Amino acid sequence: MNMRADQETTLAGTPAAAALPAVADLDTIVSLAKRRGFVFPSSEIYGGINAVWDYGPLGVELKNNVKRAWWRSIVQERNDVVGLDAGILMHPQVWRTSGHVGSFSDPLVECTACKRRYRLDELPGTGDLTPTQIADPEIVAKLALVCPDCAGTLTAPRRFNLMFKTFMGPVEEDASVIFLRPETAQGAYVQHRNVREAARKKIPFGIAQIGKSFRNEISPGNFVFRMREFEQMELQMFVRPDEAATAAFDEWLPRRLAWYKAYGVSPERLRIREHAPDELAHYAKRAIDVEYRFPFGWKELEGIHNRGDFDLSRHAAESGENLDFFDPATETSFTPWVVEAAAGADRAAFTFLIDAYREEEVRGEKRVVLALNPELAPYKVAVLPLLKKRDDLVEKAHAIRDGLAKEFPAVYDDTAAIGKLYRRQDEIGTPWCICVDVESLDDNAVTIRDRDTMEQERVSTDRLQEFFLTKLRAARP
Ligand code: GAP
Repeated sequence: MNMRADQETTLAGTPAAAALPAVADLDTIVSLAKRRGFVFPSSEIYGGINAVWDYGPLGVELKNNVKRAWWRSIVQERNDVVGLDAGILMHPQVWRTSGHVGSFSDPLVECTACKRRYRLDELPGTGDLTPTQIADPEIVAKLALVCPDCAGTLTAPRRFNLMFKTFMGPVEEDASVIFLRPETAQGAYVQHRNVREAARKKIPFGIAQIGKSFRNEISPGNFVFRMREFEQMELQMFVRPDEAATAAFDEWLPRRLAWYKAYGVSPERLRIREHAPDELAHYAKRAIDVEYRFPFGWKELEGIHNRGDFDLSRHAAESGENLDFFDPATETSFTPWVVEAAAGADRAAFTFLIDAYREEEVRGEKRVVLALNPELAPYKVAVLPLLKKRDDLVEKAHAIRDGLAKEFPAVYDDTAAIGKLYRRQDEIGTPWCICVDVESLDDNAVTIRDRDTMEQERVSTDRLQEFFLTKLRAARP
């Protein structure tokens, strides 16, 4: 694979400019998500709170499955990566040392008439600006930018720090200010020596972490794409300096792209984009974004960063602790470099949801299907009695569900006719439905219907667990 970022071309080799989103209108996904219980606005009965979303019964299953799939590929299947669950709250010095207090900011402009605030680079007409142009204090005047809501005059841009602050302890004073972490990565850096020693790892090794992060985004939006409270899945690989870091970067980028593809994201809607030197985050020597063609354009899904020794050197200098690695083979010490694969759990779940969405016509009727990989599907199996008024069928269907649910999520439903029940399960991505009919009472077999092919087969109830476990294993990338 050509490791040079080429945003003109998708991973399928097709022109990126011609890529169509899987769903033309984001509202299709937003309404499905709400109607079927994937995602709800937070605190909705009080009018909601901007940029915070709650995951409903199906959403929490989907997101948990995404996190499990990530953890399996990053931690479980590798011998050189271990896990960590660091606190959201950390010593405030962490964020001064990491550069976030000084540099983790976006350019903010304010309308002098209506007082609305905007992120400069999200205003109409700023899409093609370089980071250097965005940093230009005269840019608003040069481009004659006005408030998109009321056409009022906009102020010159100023840097707005994205970190949330709160107070630790019972006294609300400057000395007790702490931050909600804006990335999980720092937990891995300040714990890397403890983790390495306890896990008896040598360089290269990695620390993986999944957890909440918080950013006071100026212009959140596009549903769960940009939120103020979100979850990250971040891998920090600690490697030898320089060429080893370049090699690790070149190794992890295709590995992460392969993960999205293996779980069903179309390569025609994936591309990579290298950050220009003036766009790099304050810690990065090199950065490539994995981008997805969302209904609202090409946007970042995950970032692969070569952070050099930026974080560890600064933490060592500030704390006075030795964070170097002593290599007994060469009897030399060095500060490890870090290569990071930083993904968003919400963005990944959102992407899988959008990319799985299909509308098709079956016998003159619209069928909506979420063609999720079975491992990501909220329920693996739905058990449906053909006749809900027949107690013996209902009892048998419940018994089948209870047995299967010991191995994987399975759901019982009898609230509509069988055709409608199938459609409902298609719409939430359930890969297999079991129909329990009158014959099942005699032959102890059930009909299994496949979500994608809609084909049906008769399987003995004694074989059901093995049948589905084999299918689930086969579907796992
Ligand atoms: N530790 C490096 C880091 O945090 P980042 O590119 O700022 O890098 C990594 O964030 C990933 O976290 C992004 O690619 C995205 O998937 C997710 N993410 C960042 N900000 C987000 C937000 N406001 N809402 C949802 N996800 C976000």
